[in-house]
Amino acid sequence: MTGQSSGDLSADRRYLWAEASRKDGDLAAAADLYRQAIEIAPDWPAAWFGLGETLAALGEPEPAKEAFGVCLGLAPGDPFGASLHLARLTGDTTDAMPAAYVTRLFDDYADRFESHLVDTLDYRGPAILLEALEQTAPAARFEAVCDLGCGTGLMARALAWRAGAIDGIDLSPNMVAHAERTGLYRRLLATDCLAGLATLSGAYDLIVAADVFVYLGDLAPVLAAARARTRDGGWMAFTVQALPEPTATDAGFALGPDLRYAHSTAYLVQAARDACWTTRLLAPAVTRRDAGRDVPGLVVVLSCDGA
Ligand SMILES: C[S@@+](CC[C@H](N)C(=O)[O-])C[C@H]1O[C@@H](n2cnc3c(N)ncnc32)[C@H](O)[C@@H]1O
Repeated sequence: MTGQSSGDLSADRRYLWAEASRKDGDLAAAADLYRQAIEIAPDWPAAWFGLGETLAALGEPEPAKEAFGVCLGLAPGDPFGASLHLARLTGDTTDAMPAAYVTRLFDDYADRFESHLVDTLDYRGPAILLEALEQTAPAARFEAVCDLGCGTGLMARALAWRAGAIDGIDLSPNMVAHAERTGLYRRLLATDCLAGLATLSGAYDLIVAADVFVYLGDLAPVLAAARARTRDGGWMAFTVQALPEPTATDAGFALGPDLRYAHSTAYLVQAARDACWTTRLLAPAVTRRDAGRDVPGLVVVLSCDGA
């Protein structure tokens, strides 16, 4: 029962009314209706999740935490991302997002991803990475490229003229199906980027990740795995959301109210050094807008020693 049906029509109806009330801004009515749905179908995680979100929006953190906790217990793998909401409410930062949550998010989003991201959010991640590579490695042609979190293939489209073979890795099978249709990828894997890097054979000249590390807090494992799969003289380029320095936590990364991770400059420099990369470029960059405002970000280009 992780989907939008509890298996009981009257519980489903109350859930749908709750969702409609929430959309209309009547949060008190929504909370009441979610509770009614839960009374009928107590093991339905979607209703507990809706209740948690509504109570959090009503400014009732303790019962919201309780609702998210029940949701977490009922939905193995946490496809709703209840653990992220719990972390926000307790002031904690998790190291990474649940894979089931990211997969569900992007599987649902895949068909409208490009129009929404590019037309509505003015998304420029791939263009920014291309410009950064033109600055740092102007003459290089990248014979073997790995596109982490490749999504629908926007990065491959931007990079194609400077690249040979491009492999793509993405958690979401629906996003990968779109990438497949571009015909620009040599190999595509629908899996987590760490598992994918361990599976794909060969060494890369360039590893890119456009707007992907906002779904990873601790970047140490992926920077180390990418370094191990990049040949000497090779490159890595990625974007992140910038953690405003005055609120930087000890961890150097934090889960924001938009449920995306942001990273501090100091963290990125240290994490790159720890994984034996040389930082060639670390500069402010706005990859997208949200609610009409630029979202502050950073573009990072790293090289393996010898480049
Ligand atoms: C905002 S989209 C960006 C897609 C693409 N890079 C682009 O610039 O258009 C983020 C993508 O990263 C993928 N993703 C997030 N976390 C991932 C992980 N740990 N491993 C593999 N893919 C991941 C998502 O499924 C999604 O397709």
